[in-house]
Amino acid sequence: MRTYVALSTLLLLASPLLFTTPHAAYAQRPNSTVRTASGQDGEAFVNSLLGKMTLEEKIGQMSQVALNTKLDTPADEMARKGQVGSFLFLTDAAEINRLQHVAVDQSRLHIPLLFGFDVIHGFRTIYPVPLAMAASWDPAVAERAQSMAAKEASATGVQWTFAPMVDIARDPRWGRIMEGAGEDPFLGSRMAEAQVRGFQGDSLGAQDHILACVKHFAGYGAASGGRDYEESNISDEQLWNVYFPPFEAAIHAGAGSLMSAYMDLNGVPATGNRYLLHDVLRDDWKFQGMVVSDWESVMNLTTHGFSRDAGDAAARAVNAGVDMEMTSHTFRDGLPAALHQGLVTQATLDAAVRQILLTKYRMGLFRNPYVDVSKTASQMVTPEQREAARQAATRAAVLLRNEGNLLPLSKQYKSIALIGSLADSKADIMGSWSLAGHPSDSVTVLEGLKKRFSPGTQVEYTKGVEIEREQTSIFDEQFSSPKPTLKTDAERDAEFHHAIDLVRQSDVAVLVLGELQSMSGERASRSSLDLPGKQEELLEAAVATGKPIVLVLLNARPLDITWASQHVAAILEAWYPGTEGGDAIADLLSGDANPGGKLPVAWPRSVGQIPINYARNLTQIPNDPDTRYWDGSSAPLYPFGYGLSYSSFSMTNLHLASNSVHAGSKLEVSVDLQNTSSRDGDEVVQLYTHQRAGSASRPVRELKGFRRVTLKAGEKRTVTLALDTHDLGFWSPQTHHLSMEPGAFDLWVGHDSSASDHASFTLLP
Ligand code: BGC
Repeated sequence: MRTYVALSTLLLLASPLLFTTPHAAYAQRPNSTVRTASGQDGEAFVNSLLGKMTLEEKIGQMSQVALNTKLDTPADEMARKGQVGSFLFLTDAAEINRLQHVAVDQSRLHIPLLFGFDVIHGFRTIYPVPLAMAASWDPAVAERAQSMAAKEASATGVQWTFAPMVDIARDPRWGRIMEGAGEDPFLGSRMAEAQVRGFQGDSLGAQDHILACVKHFAGYGAASGGRDYEESNISDEQLWNVYFPPFEAAIHAGAGSLMSAYMDLNGVPATGNRYLLHDVLRDDWKFQGMVVSDWESVMNLTTHGFSRDAGDAAARAVNAGVDMEMTSHTFRDGLPAALHQGLVTQATLDAAVRQILLTKYRMGLFRNPYVDVSKTASQMVTPEQREAARQAATRAAVLLRNEGNLLPLSKQYKSIALIGSLADSKADIMGSWSLAGHPSDSVTVLEGLKKRFSPGTQVEYTKGVEIEREQTSIFDEQFSSPKPTLKTDAERDAEFHHAIDLVRQSDVAVLVLGELQSMSGERASRSSLDLPGKQEELLEAAVATGKPIVLVLLNARPLDITWASQHVAAILEAWYPGTEGGDAIADLLSGDANPGGKLPVAWPRSVGQIPINYARNLTQIPNDPDTRYWDGSSAPLYPFGYGLSYSSFSMTNLHLASNSVHAGSKLEVSVDLQNTSSRDGDEVVQLYTHQRAGSASRPVRELKGFRRVTLKAGEKRTVTLALDTHDLGFWSPQTHHLSMEPGAFDLWVGHDSSASDHASFTLLP
């Protein structure tokens, strides 16, 4: 729990400080309200309903049942008896309506069901994975993608998504790094807000939109060793300054629901953690939405060695602040006894039910809970969806290397060797968590390149090597990559040599390497970052031919490409770009689109460098930070914020509107950005700050502003960023408060986190 030190102690520790409440750094910002289209808050309606409910009906509302698991009671019966508040994993509009009719027409109190589904990066049309969307450094792209996803999902009757995932992740071994916005709380916050707006629209219940669920609260991204589900041990300083901000941003943007996390946070399971789910969420952030547990995480409070039995687990989850339990039936089995024994009070239980009913009310479900089945099919994978997905994929791509301007591919190349099994996979290009996506809708890299380059340029494909996950994935049944077809070593050798021969015979080779979609995501952590299988060998053999080589990466975590970064002329990080991935990659390789994405994570040279996030504190021998290891560089391969373009840009005339600014106001920072090339392109202007002295050491630099700008060839423009001094506030491990501390700050503006254009300013009280 937080402790508060006496004011006199604070004054001794660091003076002058601006003392504030834990929440006050955000005091000037709009209140966290769940906006509702219904125009009323529904309190009276819900209270009256609550007054009529039996205990079984209340616990029913608090239970979410997954329809892809074995049920001990048929779904219809549960809906009729009011034993379920929400169903998970149904995507058939007619079946959704049918079950909804059972609940509304046949249950005693006619309470509508809430249908949830993981709409993570698209529903049927798949958009780039969230890490890729963050690489666009363009919140508008993320907002549009999630709004388009909401359109398809809601047309199917899905009303609730379990996204955005806003867990900060600084360990690429962790498979779920793909589901978030990477390592940085500022970028992560902007992406979090944008996604909430995209899913929910202007208000809960807005047409064609769905309820967002910000997850997993909190600290899941810091899983020990990058091993999924392992405990997280995070200092309060890191929680408040790094892991919490994207959650708070999503809540301020109006997120209507939140999911608790699986793991122990500092020794207390997140799903039974009252500090997180009550003190921070409700007291400090004034969250007004509903809290759902993660899958079976209430039941697992017992597995953690935390609760004694189902009754204890249920009581501790509800007392902590969980309103609805996902999948397991600990509430059903344990709450009646817990109530009887006084482990939980009727008032606490009612508060949870009220939250669920209010959410349903705000979403307009008591007025119209049904989906118009006649419109469902026409909303899927429309040309508008495809266009938005293609644009998102081109904006997400990051150009890591382009020696001798090998890209875009010259028209003089008359033959392209396209190598790598991922180039011909309709499933892998979508990435993990594409559960409602149809691989048959996808455009592969092979298809995209053939469409774009043939007949003028010949595109010849062979896989070269196959890759396979050593252990099965939990998603294999729903969504899996093509299985390897090469059975013997002789067959594999022959294919390898065939691919290298093809490279030799072609003018240029494009190698599409990376990971299967199942190698990232939930339960998809790795202990190494190598290119799986014999892909590295294939790459090195291709380079040895002397032909120009382009490496296109399909993956959702930094991989060890240190050798490639020195020997492969061009490297394009395409991530998992989604349904339109093949067309988008063809746009980028041909020059119809110009890469402008930037890395949302620092890229390590090897797995041993993890964590290598840029915002770290400098300590001893600060001027020689690249000598922290004697056996190699301590610097990342590519810094956070890095990314090239086919255009070139200069930034000059860094100018601050004033050399001092009062806490609570904004400082205008401008720079002249010029496209110094003959090609239109995008650059991201990035602003970093550093607090020189204060009650605690502050990171060497932290992102505090950015803007992606499109400039015509030769165009010059002054770009102005408004530095919000609230963003200079931080939670001090000395004062245990969020505050803005007056004093001297450094500021840099540039192309990435190693920006060298420097200025300074003073923050005044
Ligand atoms: C994941 C959640 C997800 C839920 C439902 C869990 O295993 O951790 O992120 O929303 O399953 O699919």
